[in-house]
Amino acid sequence: MIVAGNFKTHHTRSSTLKYCNALDKRLEGIENIEVRIFPTLSSLPYDNFTHLKIGAQNAYCVSNGAYSGEVGEEQLFELGIKTLLIGHSERREIFKEDKEMIKKKFDFFSSRGFEIFLCIGENLEVKKSGGTKEYLMRQLEGISLCYPKLIVAYEPIWAIGSGVSASLEEIEEIHSFLQEIGVKTSVYGGSVKRENAKEIMSLKGVDGVLVGGASLELESFCAIIGC
Ligand code: 13P
Repeated sequence: MIVAGNFKTHHTRSSTLKYCNALDKRLEGIENIEVRIFPTLSSLPYDNFTHLKIGAQNAYCVSNGAYSGEVGEEQLFELGIKTLLIGHSERREIFKEDKEMIKKKFDFFSSRGFEIFLCIGENLEVKKSGGTKEYLMRQLEGISLCYPKLIVAYEPIWAIGSGVSASLEEIEEIHSFLQEIGVKTSVYGGSVKRENAKEIMSLKGVDGVLVGGASLELESFCAIIGC
C-alpha cells in the first residue's frame, strides 16, 4: 500500500523537517506501507530518511538551464530525490499545464528512472455529463503505462479539498477501469482522511491514497497510515 502526503503550498522548511523526522520515527516497524511526502520545493530536504521517501511536487523536464522559477533534475539529484508528482489538477488549472507539457515531463523523468505519480481526474461538469472514463483515458494518452515506476493518482477535482470524497463505488469502478486500460498501480486522492482511508484502501484495485489536507498534521496522517 502507498500512502502519500501532498503538502501543496503548506508548511515551511523548518516545520517540514520537523514533521518528516517525527514521521520517519513513527514508521519504525511499520511494514507493507510505502510512505511519500511531497513538500513545497523550497522545503525539499535530502531524501535520507529511513522509512519515508521525499518527492517533488513539480519539476521541469530538463537537467538544468535557463528556466527561471523551475527546478530541474540536477537540483533534485543533489538531494537524492527520485520521486515526482506531475499533472496535479492545480497545476493543470491554475498554471495551465497542458497534456503535452505533462507528457514531456513524464517522458523526461521516466527516462531518468524517477518514480512518477501522475494525477488525473475529471471536474464536476465532466462527471455530470457521464464522460469520466473517456476523459481519463484522454489524460493518459501518450503516457507509457508499462513504465514500472508509474503510479496513477485518480483525483476527481470535485472531491479535492471539498471534504467529501468520491463514493466507494465510484472509486472502485474507476480503479478497475484504470486496470482494464493497462494501469498497473493506482492510488486515490480527494478528501481522504482518517475516517475513510481504511475503507478506500481496502477497495479492489486501489493501491493506496494521495492525501492533501489531512496529511498536514502529523497525527492525522499517522492515523491514516496506522502508525
Ligand atoms: P485533499 O486531500 O485536501 O482533498 O487534496 C487531495 C489532493 O489534491 C492531493 O494531491
